[in-house]
Amino acid sequence: QKDGYRFFMEKEIYEQSVVISDTLMGRLSDDEIIFDELDKTLFDGIKEIKLCACGTSYHAAMSASYLFERYSKIKTSLEIASEFRYRDPIMTKDTLFVVISQSGETADTLETLKMAKAAGLKTLVICNVDNSSMVRLADATILTRAGIEKGVASTKAFATQVTVFWMLSLYVAKLKNSLTQKEIASHISTLREIPSHVKVSDEMHERIKRLSKRYLHGHGFFFIGRDVFYPLALEGALKLKEISYLHAEGYPAGEMKHGPIALADPELFTIALLPKHLHYEKAKSNVEELSARDSTICAISQIAFERADDFIEISECDHYMLEFFEMMVVVQLLSLEISIRLGNDVDMPRNLAKSVTVE
Ligand code: M6R
Repeated sequence: QKDGYRFFMEKEIYEQSVVISDTLMGRLSDDEIIFDELDKTLFDGIKEIKLCACGTSYHAAMSASYLFERYSKIKTSLEIASEFRYRDPIMTKDTLFVVISQSGETADTLETLKMAKAAGLKTLVICNVDNSSMVRLADATILTRAGIEKGVASTKAFATQVTVFWMLSLYVAKLKNSLTQKEIASHISTLREIPSHVKVSDEMHERIKRLSKRYLHGHGFFFIGRDVFYPLALEGALKLKEISYLHAEGYPAGEMKHGPIALADPELFTIALLPKHLHYEKAKSNVEELSARDSTICAISQIAFERADDFIEISECDHYMLEFFEMMVVVQLLSLEISIRLGNDVDMPRNLAKSVTVE
C-alpha cells in the first residue's frame, strides 16, 4: 500500500530514516561495530577487497571503495558484474570477493559470485533479500534490512547499502588496527545520526517541488561531485534517467575540463554536490568553471553558493558522510518531482524491470 504517498518511490524515500535505524539496530556498541553474522576469520589473510555489482548497487559499492581504503586501509577494487564476467579477470585467494545486490537475483552479479567461488575465493554478499540465490551461495551475508522495495528506482536499498558499507569499513578498521578506538567511537556516534539526516522535511520537499519546474527541458544534466560524492553523482544521474527519461550523466567534478565542459550552455543543467567537509574548495572551483560557461547551476550544499541559479540548502552536519545522506535525499526527491511533472509512471518506468534475472 502507498499509505497516502503518490508513488512507492516517494514512500520509500520517506521510509529511509526508519530502515536505516533498522540496519543499525544491534550492530553498534559505543566503540565497536557488531556483525554477529560474520565470522572474523573471514578477513584472515585478506589483502584486497573486490566489490562487484550492477546499477545502483554498483554505485553503493563505489562509495564503499573510498571508505575501505580511507578507513580500513585495505586495497579495494570495483567491478561492474557484466564486464567482470567476460574479461578473464585474475582472481587471487587473498582477495575477499564482495557482491552487492538489493534482490540477490541479478543474473550477472550472481554469475560473478559463482566465478569467485569456483576460483576458491572467500565471498561475502551484502543483500536485502534473505534466502535469495546470492545469500544461499555466498560464504557470508550481511542483510541490509531495507524491507521490500517496490519502486523500480532503488532508493532505500541504496541508503542501507551505504550504511552497511560505512559500518563494515569500521569493522575491518578495528580488525586491522587502522583506526584508533577513539576514532571508531567517534564514527559510531556519527552513524547514529544518519536517521535524523534522511528525514524529509515538508519545507525541503516543497522547495524541490517548486524548483523542479525549471528542469523539465533543456539538453541534459551533469551531476558532479568528488570522492564519495562522485558515486552519489552517478546515482543521482541514474535516478533521473530511469524515471524522467532525460539525459543525465554523473561525473567526477575534476573531469569536466577534460571534455564534458564543452557542452556547457544555459540549457545544460549542472547539479553540483558541494560538501562543506570534503574538498569543498576544489569542487567549488569546478562548478565556477561551469558557471562561467553559462551552465545553469543547481548547487546542493550547507554553504550558500552565490554563483548558483538555484541553491538547495541541506541541514547543518559536521561530517561529510552525513552530508552524503542529506544530498542523497535531495537528488532522489529532485528526480521524483521532475518525473511527476513530466507525467511519467514513477514506479514502473518504461523498458525497466525491478530485477534483471536475464543477462
Ligand atoms: O537487485 P540488484 O541490486 O542486484 O539490482 C541491480 C540493478 O539492476 C538495480 O540497482 C537498478 O540499477 C535499479 N533500477 C536502480 O534504480
